[in-house]
Amino acid sequence: MDSITNPYTPNAGARPDAMVGREEQTAAFGVLLQRLEVGRTSQSLIVRGLRGVGKTVPLNELREIAERRSWKVVELEASKFDESVLRRTLATQLKAALLQLSPRAKWSERFEWAGSALTSFSLAVDLQGTWSLGWSVPSTEGVADHGDLALDLTDVFLELGRAAEETGRGIVISVDEVQFLKREQLEGIIQAVYKTVQRKLPITFVGAGIPQIAELAGDAKSYAERLFKFPEISALTDADAAAAFADPARNEGVEWDDNALKYAIAMTRGYPYFIQELGHEVWEVATGDRITLESVHYAIEAYEAKLDSSFFRVRLDRATPLQTAYMRAMAQLGAAPQKAADVAGLMGRESAQVAPTRAELIDMGLLYTPEHGYAAFTVPDFDKFMLRAVPNLEVPPIRKRRSTQR
Ligand SMILES: Nc1ncnc2c1ncn2[C@@H]1O[C@H](COP(=O)(O)OP(=O)(O)OP(=O)(O)O)[C@@H](O)[C@H]1O
Ligand SMILES: [Mg+2]
Repeated sequence: MDSITNPYTPNAGARPDAMVGREEQTAAFGVLLQRLEVGRTSQSLIVRGLRGVGKTVPLNELREIAERRSWKVVELEASKFDESVLRRTLATQLKAALLQLSPRAKWSERFEWAGSALTSFSLAVDLQGTWSLGWSVPSTEGVADHGDLALDLTDVFLELGRAAEETGRGIVISVDEVQFLKREQLEGIIQAVYKTVQRKLPITFVGAGIPQIAELAGDAKSYAERLFKFPEISALTDADAAAAFADPARNEGVEWDDNALKYAIAMTRGYPYFIQELGHEVWEVATGDRITLESVHYAIEAYEAKLDSSFFRVRLDRATPLQTAYMRAMAQLGAAPQKAADVAGLMGRESAQVAPTRAELIDMGLLYTPEHGYAAFTVPDFDKFMLRAVPNLEVPPIRKRRSTQR
């Protein structure tokens, strides 16, 4: 069919033509904002799920819901920021949010205070003075200048919250790939949100990340448990997956045959990214106004080649030989989460010898630990890919660690 009208969206964060199965999260978010607007507290959301399951798309939806209510949204895609980059990024975006809530010429006293808190917050960014927030709002001594991220953020959020409150609107801080924030950064944000929520100010935080987001400690953990819901989003049900395939085609006057749909759902197991990729390939080979089982069969090869050469391959390409061997051994043990000791055993090594490799893979976001002692792939079907891409398990020699050398 016509490539120009291909309605499938196999791109990260791309809003699908048919957005299905995520109504609960978006409804919960609407309620959250309305509660904050009337001075009530409510738990915010951090959505968790495997790669390609559709986390960024609902996060973008949340942004639109917020913007429709005239809230300002500060968006951050986390990577391994050091603190000054995090401060700079947040300060720049919070400045824009503040100016959108009220233009400088109309600032009330509250806005002046909020602006000053932001200036103070940004001063800690760069001691060489090569960067500044680029406005003439003076800093305030003693506010947001403690040099401690949690304390400084708390001051900033409180001042911004008070200013936003005057306008009857609020600010959403939306962070994608939350797992890449350093623990102290996430803890700082959570503690600051906690104080704002206690004062019923209209600032909230929503996030998305792979199932295991940074492990929190102590106070931050108990705040987080009270402050957030952590809904886990997974593959679509068969009925939703059927709609994800069929609705976009129907909008273009094309119908899927039942057996074609069933086969497509089975091949993708309801994973949104796989659905979009297969739908896209099927559209390219199908003709007329029906999608038949034959078309799906015909498209499968291109679909698998596309996944292997992009979605899966980019992950493997980043791995060292030892990391590759670790993932290959895990794959050999099966799709389920695997015990560290079993993986090490299959590699012919002691757990302690390969523990650093396992930790690196978790740090890279390729593995997560669903429960203590176990690890699983963050990418659906990565186990099968590993078996295809690396036919034999070959374990490179592991250098002895200094402490064990005699
Ligand atoms: N509810 C949905 N229904 C149908 N398709 C969806 C849905 N959500 C997302 N998609 C599609 O799935 C793909 C992946 O979406 P998205 O980028 O949001 O996933 P992600 O979980 O953020 O992935 P990653 O972990 O790699 O960042 C996109 O092609 C998107 O169009
Ligand atoms: Mg994403």
